[in-house]
Amino acid sequence: MDADLIKLVNKLQDTFANLGGELDMPQLAVVGSQSAGKSSVLETIVGRDFLPRGSGIVTRRPLVLQLIHTPVTENPTQTYTEWGQFLHIDKRFTDFNEIRREIEQETFRVAGQNKGISKLPIHLRIYSPNVLDLTLVDLPGLTKIPVGDQPSDIERQIRSLVIDYISKPNCVILAVSAANVDLANSEALKLARQVDPQGRRTIGVLTKLDLMDAGTNALDILTGRVYPLKLGFIGVVNRSQADINAEKSLQDALETEAEFFRTHPAYRNIAHKNGTRYLAKTLNQVLMNHIRDKLPDMKARLNTLMGQAQQELNSFGDAAIYGDKNQQGALILRLMTQFARDFVASIEGTSMDIS
Ligand code: GDP
Ligand code: NA
Ligand code: MG
Repeated sequence: MDADLIKLVNKLQDTFANLGGELDMPQLAVVGSQSAGKSSVLETIVGRDFLPRGSGIVTRRPLVLQLIHTPVTENPTQTYTEWGQFLHIDKRFTDFNEIRREIEQETFRVAGQNKGISKLPIHLRIYSPNVLDLTLVDLPGLTKIPVGDQPSDIERQIRSLVIDYISKPNCVILAVSAANVDLANSEALKLARQVDPQGRRTIGVLTKLDLMDAGTNALDILTGRVYPLKLGFIGVVNRSQADINAEKSLQDALETEAEFFRTHPAYRNIAHKNGTRYLAKTLNQVLMNHIRDKLPDMKARLNTLMGQAQQELNSFGDAAIYGDKNQQGALILRLMTQFARDFVASIEGTSMDIS
């Protein structure tokens, strides 16, 4: 994630918290058919290997993943700078493979061994200096035909589960479709359209471009000529199952992906607007726009508090010049002024345009 954006968001959150308010960042949720590549996409956004992925229904409970920015301290006793913590178990996980195993076990524990799903979310927090405070939600894939222990109305159940998350106006939807399936059949786009008919908070993500039939390509989709979305479609190439089995690193996968777009005859010219890195950039932009929308609110709040402090100070009058109350009032005013300065500095100090 972009270091400048992380800095800006942290500053603004501190300032807002000092003002007694909250800078609530949007949630990010992935929707799409089973095995479209949702978990893979989320993982590349976080930049760490820790989600169970694979063919068939792997994600069987919502995973609410809270990223928490944690500055690196000088403290030599703090051995780890990144760790995970689940809500259901009091333990600090520093090994991300262990986090994956715990997600799997927790899934089995509540949703059973045999393909059943559960609405009950798994809550995981990732503490890291390389993230900004953001909540990502990994969701079970949309499916039509019940298998294993799944009830006959599995389709309806998953649909309503997904809608619960993506209908929130504060939710940015990553609508994930696989390029080797006709877009007209995309469950992701159907559901996203239901809750975001104008396509204002939906980003189309097209996975598996590497698996398309020879002689076909997705240029029309990626250039927005097939399906209109204000935030557009971004093509990605995630790790294949063979890559996962061979434990190919995220870094290597990013390089293979970049190479794919750079050298592909159909995508060469749009390579700079595709790939995981560009997806991350687009997300940053969406977050920036969200923050920008919140600024007038913050300003208003600041003005109100400043006015209140000033009034309080005035009301003490001359009678109690050296009284305790007056000192309190002066203190409040001084603090407010400091907040105001921080606030202005945090906005002016960082460019809002990071594209
Ligand atoms: P989910 O069910 O939507 O969460 O999908 P997963 O992320 O679990 O991926 C399902 C399977 O598809 C895994 O075996 C992935 O390795 C594979 N996969 C996902 N994206 C791509 C891609 O872009 N290219 C290829 N070749 N395989 C992919
Ligand atoms: Na899957
Ligand atoms: Mg998944």
